Amino acid sequence: MHPSSSDKPAAEKISFLLDGEIIEINDVDPTRTVLQYLREDLRRTGTKEGCAEGDCGACTVVVAELDHDGESVRVRAVNSCIQFLATLDGKELITVESLRGKDGSLHPVQKAMVDCHGSQCGFCTPGFVMSLLALYKNNASPTRLDVDDALAGNLCRCTGYRPIVDAALAMYDESSQRDASDDWLLGAKGTNTEKPLQEKISKLKSIRRTNNLAIKQAGRRLSSPRSVAELADLIQAKPDSTLLAGGTDVGLWVTKRHRELDEIIYLGNVAELRNISVSATHIEIGAAATLSDVMPVLVEHFPALQELFVRFASPPIRNAGTLGGNIANASPIGDSMPALLALDTVLVLREGQQQRELPLDEYYVGYQATALQPGEFLEKIRVPLPASSSGLQTYKVSKRFDQDISAICAAFCIGLDGDEIVTARVAYGGLAAIPKRAKQCEQMLLGKAFERATIDAAINVLDADFQPIDDMRASAEYRMQVCRNLLLRFYLESTGAETERVYGYNRA
Ligand SMILES: Cc1cc2nc3c(=O)[nH]c(=O)nc-3n(C[C@H](O)[C@H](O)[C@H](O)COP(=O)(O)OP(=O)(O)OC[C@H]3O[C@@H](n4cnc5c(N)ncnc54)[C@H](O)[C@@H]3O)c2cc1C
Ligand code: FES
Ligand code: FES
Repeated sequence: MHPSSSDKPAAEKISFLLDGEIIEINDVDPTRTVLQYLREDLRRTGTKEGCAEGDCGACTVVVAELDHDGESVRVRAVNSCIQFLATLDGKELITVESLRGKDGSLHPVQKAMVDCHGSQCGFCTPGFVMSLLALYKNNASPTRLDVDDALAGNLCRCTGYRPIVDAALAMYDESSQRDASDDWLLGAKGTNTEKPLQEKISKLKSIRRTNNLAIKQAGRRLSSPRSVAELADLIQAKPDSTLLAGGTDVGLWVTKRHRELDEIIYLGNVAELRNISVSATHIEIGAAATLSDVMPVLVEHFPALQELFVRFASPPIRNAGTLGGNIANASPIGDSMPALLALDTVLVLREGQQQRELPLDEYYVGYQATALQPGEFLEKIRVPLPASSSGLQTYKVSKRFDQDISAICAAFCIGLDGDEIVTARVAYGGLAAIPKRAKQCEQMLLGKAFERATIDAAINVLDADFQPIDDMRASAEYRMQVCRNLLLRFYLESTGAETERVYGYNRA
């Protein structure tokens, strides 16, 4: 057995940076959120609580951490209401209060918000400012669509979004800048002077942990292993533990369902689980790689995923949430699964030293139930690279364009030899109790010509594949109708009969 955390003296305090100072907290409650800490412990009440479930963005903060190379810093907006405080260990927390200059002056993001009248009651404003700060630090010249995406997780009830979008575009103007070249937060991407960046990196290195974090408070425990071997041992020893990746599902169990999580194992510090690599045959994704890291790699190989990913939650959720968490959570309406099923994805599951491969198609065994055995966890996701003759298309149908859960999500991957359909994978979310392939429909397509009569015949057997769920999001009848329509739409778009996508970036 690998020397596990239980053999080592437990490190019981977490350390993170706030306004340049190292903060150390002993025995933090494992499920205390960053928002609770800010508002109740520090009385830093600039950060607001609206929904406590990652939807409104009022609680947005920015987290900076050393990048994989350990020599650069990545900056991401996250929802503090569902982020557990212990996950800040080794990182920097930046709140709206951090933006004030030593002389009280406004940060360029704040100045632009004032100048463009981007605030009325002000409740949403700190959250918008923090989302804009993340944009400012990551993108030197955003397009209108980049701005829309950066703000997709922030709701305003008063101002309307136009002045806020104006502020996003004005924050780079000369007139918005203030003079403080030693302040790292002031440099937009590409304009950092070396000195403040290097200071930031060395401070983050000084609090970087190399051993397992193990905290215990109020009868609850949280372990944060550093290696897959250590993680595997911990899970084997305590198979009933809650695995915490980005917490964008688990966080809500605490804030909304008031569940007590007595034993938590945090995956976010296992470097191997955050790796993404591309070989000649497949893309291999560590289960704890964030959606923000995974999406560009998948889109490079499967451009059809672009729209689906832009519509997957919001940047703060994608910055924390992981692909592994989306798969493991086993929601029938998870957005990544239909596409991954259509791509014939294989999961690498691990228990102790043993690994096994399982097609994603065999992973879901019932409503929110998976083939994972006690002590086993999802280690990697392998997405085969496509044959050049096969085309993937995905569709998300939801009531809102941004930040909404799907009523139906569909993915089609059809391989052609000339006109003949030689491979067919058709998958839907939101129809059955699990994300599922439409195997009878696929059989109807295989070996036939890719033409309207074949598609009509395949549409007719979809009823045999699914008995749709019926809930407040959509009726069973509606779901089934949309299911049929999407297959037809895929055919029409693929054959050029209808080429204009609704999104198609024509919102710019
Ligand atoms: C506001 C909001 C909007 C959202 N919008 C969308 C959306 O548009 N589309 C969508 O599909 N989802 C959406 N979600 C759901 C959520 O963001 C995703 O499911 C996300 O991918 C979960 O990843 P996570 O890392 O946060 O998982 P966590 O919350 O950390 O974990 C989720 C589950 O997976 C388990 N788990 C995590 N990693 C592993 C592993 N390696 N092995 C075994 N079990 C594991 C956990 O124990 C838990 O049961 C939204 C959530 C919120 C709060
Ligand atoms: S309080 Fe609404 S997203 Fe956090
Ligand atoms: S200014 Fe009032 S909610 Fe946005």
